[in-house]
Amino acid sequence: MKIIMLGAPGAGKGTQAKQIAAKYEIPHISTGDIFRANIKNGTELGKKAKEYMDQGMLVPDELTCDLVMDRIAQDDCERGFVLDGFPRTIPQAEALTNALTKIGQSMDYAIDVDVPDENIVNRMSGRRACLNCGATYHIVFNPTKAEGVCDACGNETVLRDDDKPETVQKRLSVYHDQTQPLIDYYKEQNILKSVDGTKPMDEVFSDIVAILGE
Ligand code: AP5
Ligand code: MG
Ligand code: ZN
Repeated sequence: MKIIMLGAPGAGKGTQAKQIAAKYEIPHISTGDIFRANIKNGTELGKKAKEYMDQGMLVPDELTCDLVMDRIAQDDCERGFVLDGFPRTIPQAEALTNALTKIGQSMDYAIDVDVPDENIVNRMSGRRACLNCGATYHIVFNPTKAEGVCDACGNETVLRDDDKPETVQKRLSVYHDQTQPLIDYYKEQNILKSVDGTKPMDEVFSDIVAILGE
């Protein structure tokens, strides 16, 4: 099963993608997580990506597409994968379609997690992320057991550099300009499904399972 998660920053793509990956036993591929891991490890890619991310802008397509194409060509993706944060421009979507068409494949679902802008800023200011293992929490909706400590790996949890309110506004406007057109792109491919992302997390997940099947 090959799935794309669409949705604004903070809509809950990562939250849902992790559960999908666990239930259907497919890898969760988040370009944001890959960039953050590179930043943490001080790689060249990380240095370049950070300049864009900290301003709420998209990392250029040429730094992003090859990375994802290499990742989905790995053996563990044979049974499918869930893409979180990719594609987020029309050229990225076309690169993905072309790469899959070449090997006689196509995506199965593009799931749009729909959340209005008003709800987003609140969510982001309460989000805490573990930069070690990628786990995500929320101080109200999904708190860690001990404050500031990741349940999964014990490292500290932090407010992401790009979750400051001004940067969140910029990310939202970039989303509307560059990523929202993908909703129509996947509607035309007949694989678009929408879920109401304002519901509690477990209800959103049930709605997704109803689409994907048990
Ligand atoms: P990325 O890491 O993908 O960030 P994003 O798209 O802005 O999305 P987020 O991770 O912020 O939100 P999410 O939808 O995953 O929400 P989450 O589940 O955490 O990208 C970061 C940056 O990297 C980009 O800005 C760009 O610069 C660059 N980049 C990445 N991919 C790229 C690409 N393909 N091309 C170019 N550049 C790229 O949930 C948010 C919060 O809400 C959490 O605290 C969570 O606990 C809470 N929450 C989730 N669901 C619910 C719910 N139902 N009710 C209440 N709270 C909830
Ligand atoms: Mg995410
Ligand atoms: Zn962790």
